[in-house]
Amino acid sequence: MKTSKGFASDNYSGTHPKILEAIQKANLGHASAYGNDEYTAKAVKKFKEHFGKDVDVYFVYNGTGANVLGLKTVTESFNSIICAETAHLNVDECCAPEKFTGCKLLTVPTNDGKISVEKLKHHVYGFGDQHHAQPKVISITQPTELGTLYTLKEVKELVDYAHKNNMLLHVDGARLSNAAASLNKSLKEITFDLGVDVLSFGGTKNGMMFGEAVIFRKKELSRDFAFIRKQGMQLASKMRFISSQFEELLSNDLWLKNAQHSNKMAKTLADEVKNIPKIKITQKVEASGVFAIVPKQYVPNLQEEYFFYVWNEQISEVRWMCSFDTTEDDIRDFVALLKKIVK
Ligand SMILES: Cc1ncc(COP(=O)(O)O)c(C=O)c1O
Repeated sequence: MKTSKGFASDNYSGTHPKILEAIQKANLGHASAYGNDEYTAKAVKKFKEHFGKDVDVYFVYNGTGANVLGLKTVTESFNSIICAETAHLNVDECCAPEKFTGCKLLTVPTNDGKISVEKLKHHVYGFGDQHHAQPKVISITQPTELGTLYTLKEVKELVDYAHKNNMLLHVDGARLSNAAASLNKSLKEITFDLGVDVLSFGGTKNGMMFGEAVIFRKKELSRDFAFIRKQGMQLASKMRFISSQFEELLSNDLWLKNAQHSNKMAKTLADEVKNIPKIKITQKVEASGVFAIVPKQYVPNLQEEYFFYVWNEQISEVRWMCSFDTTEDDIRDFVALLKKIVK
């Protein structure tokens, strides 16, 4: 079987060996189902160490489930949720947020994946008007879908604005570890210390086999999450196989080492590519992804050897994603092929 690596996505990678070992260990004997097991208790303890003692945390299978169920818990069907046009919520979740929350998604155009108070405030009006969807949540992705980062100040401004308007701030943190690594801050400093209310925290893209967490700033916000998760079909009966992975990921800085590595690989790739004439890097490389325009005629030949996504067909912008297991050799070989093909 072909085992080469590409730059399609960090969920194309396998599972980190330490995580596999943790799964293997959790496989011994029987344990209570649905999260009533010691692995889940230990994982929850780890989350509290990293995110603060007051948070309330729940595990789910995937990122769409984390986003949708987290949002469903804090909204009513007559609310609106504001996000970037590029948000995973808006473009990659097959209307699941709209279907399960019943809310209206209001989008904000963005060149770099980021939204700001200035860009979104035209959506925030009509409070108390029975004819108007009631604004309730601002959702941001950190790092963004375009590999860029919000500064702490930018997140704080959005939190303060949301709270001032009786709204909440949700963070899609499918790659939050990459953000913390890049900003050189703890997971708590870039989220709950700033007042973030609901967080989807990714494991799959940072070395886990599967599993994501929904974290609420405080118990009052999580209200009926347990029921909503069950109704939403995201309650794992053999929960210990998600929990044990998270416990390992959040121990001995594995989350940080994996994220630092994929970020470093993206920087290396960008440095190598930026001097190739005809290739233009389009976004700041602040996390683990590189976005670049590659003239259309070269893309099929490159994709024959390495799979990656064309992000924007119109301008032939591609996305190269690095992962915890991307190596310098992988980058060297890919860049050599790029130089050969793109002449
Ligand atoms: C920003 C972002 N959010 C959430 C997800 C989670 O998606 P999934 O439901 O495939 O786990 C992804 C995966 O690509 C993502 O990139």
